Amino acid sequence: MSVFVEEIVSAPAVEQDVCSLDNYLAQPDHTIDGRIAAARAKLGKSTILLGHHYQRDEVIRFADYTGDSYKLSKIAAETEARYLVFCGVHFMAESADVLGRPDDPPGTGQQVILPDLNAGCSMADMAEIGQVEDCWDSLMAAGLSPADILPITYMNSTAAIKAFCGERGGLVCTSSNAGKAFDWAFARAEKILFLPDQHLGRNTAFAMGIPLNEMVVWDPYQINGGLTPARLKAAKIILWKGHCSVHQRFLPEHVEKVRAKYPGIKVAVHPECRWEVCQKADALGSTERLIHLVESAPEGSMFAIGTEIHLVNRLAKEFAAKGKRIITLDDTGCLCTTMYRISPQHLAWALENLVEGRVVNRIQVREDVKRWSRVALDRMLEIRA
Ligand code: 13P
Ligand code: SF4
Repeated sequence: MSVFVEEIVSAPAVEQDVCSLDNYLAQPDHTIDGRIAAARAKLGKSTILLGHHYQRDEVIRFADYTGDSYKLSKIAAETEARYLVFCGVHFMAESADVLGRPDDPPGTGQQVILPDLNAGCSMADMAEIGQVEDCWDSLMAAGLSPADILPITYMNSTAAIKAFCGERGGLVCTSSNAGKAFDWAFARAEKILFLPDQHLGRNTAFAMGIPLNEMVVWDPYQINGGLTPARLKAAKIILWKGHCSVHQRFLPEHVEKVRAKYPGIKVAVHPECRWEVCQKADALGSTERLIHLVESAPEGSMFAIGTEIHLVNRLAKEFAAKGKRIITLDDTGCLCTTMYRISPQHLAWALENLVEGRVVNRIQVREDVKRWSRVALDRMLEIRA
């Protein structure tokens, strides 16, 4: 059993009439916007709202800062605000808590709120700390030593896994600095264990010139990851068998189809997409970079974007007025259901409670986990995006 167990601290019981979440959830959409704005105004500089680009329009419009996971973590590390309301998913809020100001002297530390605790990430759930520790033990049993291999975890992982990497000399990366993280690791060891997104790991390593036959996939549900000691020893990159269901849906056929239908169209995808899709695309990038690509393209450009549908639809709406056409790479483009869980009702509930002095849905990482995950996150911030 792992010693790293995440801890979520919720608010103490609160009075039904004033702050029961059920009362908020009963409110129809768009009837609560004025209350969110009023609560936001009352909280002033004590509070910042961080919004990931996949949030729905009804929520992201209230964000003080929007960004990809790298940018938001940097803001979390730098802000003076006492309360950070994270409109994103659990691993992002956890990282903000790790990077935030500690409570020293007591009463001065930062507190992170996730308006709906069910806003997780299915990819992050694909690597559990006990499985990762077992994998590491198997790698050592196969004849590798800690000097041979460094673990790198994608930001989309629990704080426990970030701590695991930090303690073993590794680091965290996001989709905007994965290449730099690999360079950093290869300056220190000859192999990388990459968690938990096999696609980002493969796309990053391949772009650095590492051939596919030097990468293996570790399946946590098979004995010894489904790999022989000889294959493990020969591999340069060991990829965890995890993926994002939103991005894995995009297929190479989708790229061929849009190119046939719209000659001259540019295809830009998130690097969580399959290698075969990324190979066919014109550009890859984090959510922030995808936005920048569209922004900086000349008038008259057309893009098919392979990422979460709320961001694609927002880009389509915003840039239509600027003479650029944006479509989704796949017509049945999928939403991130966990990002979607943050609703205006949840946001109003979290903010109005805060106005009343109650912190609900606080995300608080255990101190021992915090220590090493902070090391891994600081290494990431040092290499920049
Ligand atoms: P970005 O860091 O590119 O915003 O990606 C986060 C994410 O979860 C993509 O699925
Ligand atoms: Fe996780 Fe995929 Fe949603 Fe990103 S889009 S938060 S990787 S499930």
